[in-house]
Amino acid sequence: MRRAVCPGSFDPVTNGHVDVITRAAGLYDELVVAVLVNPGKAGLFTVDERMELLREACADLPNVTVDSFHGLLVDYCREHDIPVIVKGLRAVGDFEYELQMAQMNRELAHVETLFVPTAPQVGHLSSSLVKQIAKFGGDVSRLVPKAVLDRLLAQREQGA
Ligand code: PNS
Repeated sequence: MRRAVCPGSFDPVTNGHVDVITRAAGLYDELVVAVLVNPGKAGLFTVDERMELLREACADLPNVTVDSFHGLLVDYCREHDIPVIVKGLRAVGDFEYELQMAQMNRELAHVETLFVPTAPQVGHLSSSLVKQIAKFGGDVSRLVPKAVLDRLLAQREQGA
């Protein structure tokens, strides 16, 4: 059984994440999408909301499950017997830090990292940009899954 984890903040999940998750799901028997619980950083969405939105976005991918984790990613990998981390790379700007983390995770626990280059049509997406555009009334309908769009629009109506 080939298993991998796709970790991230996912605040919120974008079409860029869905692209990477979908392609990774095609490479492994089981893919766990794991949301980092970061007590030091309040997000727009709670971890439970992020997980719910991910589940809706990945509803068509039967081998994908959604979970959350605290602390080190390699500890989560060890506890769940997952040997591979999958990360999306949008541009060279992502590479330096991602390479450093990949090398560190391998040193810490022999966990390998697989980099998936994002599809060019979603390579400019980020959760932060989506949040900023949505906050100021811009159109993010082509950038995020439907469930996320609905939630962002509802928040805007409530004046959040
Ligand atoms: O979506 P993000 O914010 O780019 O995801 C970053 C994430 C969650 C993958 C990364 O911060 C992480 O793995 N955090 C867990 C803590 C950890 O293991 N740190 C050591 C990395 S070498």
